[in-house]
Amino acid sequence: MQAVILVGGEGTRLRPLTYGTPKPMVPLFGIPFLERTLGRLKEAGVDDVVLAAGYLPRAIEDHLGDGSRIGMRVSYVVEASPLGTAGALKNLADHITESFFVLNGDVLTSLDLRAMIAFHREHGGVATLHAIRVDDPSAFGCIVRDADGRIASFIEKPPRHEAPTNEINAGTYLLERSVLDSIPADCKVSIERETFPDLIASGARLVSYVTDDYWLDVGRPEQYLQAHGDVLDRKLELAPSGDRALSSRGRMWHVGENGAPAYVRLPVFIGEGVAIDPSAIVGPYAVIGDRCRVGAGAEIRDAILWDGVDIGADARISDAILASDVSVGRSAHVTTGAVVGHGARIAADTHVDPNARIVAKAETAASPTS
Ligand code: GTP
Repeated sequence: MQAVILVGGEGTRLRPLTYGTPKPMVPLFGIPFLERTLGRLKEAGVDDVVLAAGYLPRAIEDHLGDGSRIGMRVSYVVEASPLGTAGALKNLADHITESFFVLNGDVLTSLDLRAMIAFHREHGGVATLHAIRVDDPSAFGCIVRDADGRIASFIEKPPRHEAPTNEINAGTYLLERSVLDSIPADCKVSIERETFPDLIASGARLVSYVTDDYWLDVGRPEQYLQAHGDVLDRKLELAPSGDRALSSRGRMWHVGENGAPAYVRLPVFIGEGVAIDPSAIVGPYAVIGDRCRVGAGAEIRDAILWDGVDIGADARISDAILASDVSVGRSAHVTTGAVVGHGARIAADTHVDPNARIVAKAETAASPTS
């Protein structure tokens, strides 16, 4: 079994984090999100993966190479311009020799991929789509199916009270190779909006695999924060375990655990080589990357700090995301939905605006295709 991971999007909603870091390389507890997705595939016995890349591909390739470090075979097909979710598959058709998974690069889920393979084999369609149930489907693509799971239609973002189902497309597909034949070449095509509905119209059998797994699209800052909170709350076990290359680099303390330092309010995650002044308070729900420094009297809660962040004395960080090498001056406040891009400096005593997006000047100038 092979897999394609779609990693070509620009990740505009996660800016400024994604100006220099493609979304798949955004860390989840110190490890790039994509590496965790690869770990899930490996656990399911899928070790031949093609990455459909386009935006900042070199950052991905520099980190993963040919995949041998993590015991997988990883290859890359880079789009000169975005081809959409189906166009991207057509573009790498030469790499696909058998049935294959397609995964959106930004979905965090506990879905059991092996169980999905078994379901696909048993139900025998050209495509099996993972679906999950949500309370409010109005922001998603809904999948309408019959009692056997056969998909009848797709409804994009229906008003909440008119939605015919609360089962939504969860962004993991298992496809027969023949699906590639139905995608036109060299043009932008959406698999959700074009390929799947066209296949249904032509009478093909597509099946919905509905589960109640944990599922979150981490493509926005609020969801990115939520993903960390959910892992700290143990709503999701981060896969896989036991493989050092894919495990967390730091230390996670959950509520009820003993042995956390006095400055910690559980739950928290603290990376390696971190220096925290004993008079600072870290947590709850603080995720501190490697080599961060937290000054005297500073407070950090409900926040994610990537590696090498420097927090000055008496600063307050809450409901915020700070990318790598950010520095926050003495008594500054970074709160209420703020997102600070790589290398930005927040001057002492500054109180940043709610939901501010702060960028170091050099960041936006990076060439997107290198
Ligand atoms: P936003 O700009 O914030 O909407 O993020 P995005 O660009 O990643 O788009 P979206 O979240 O809708 O994409 C879902 C998944 O498909 C992500 O994993 C993207 O990387 C991927 N994706 C979207 N468009 C393309 C494309 O044209 N080519 C490839 N290869 N992947 C894509």
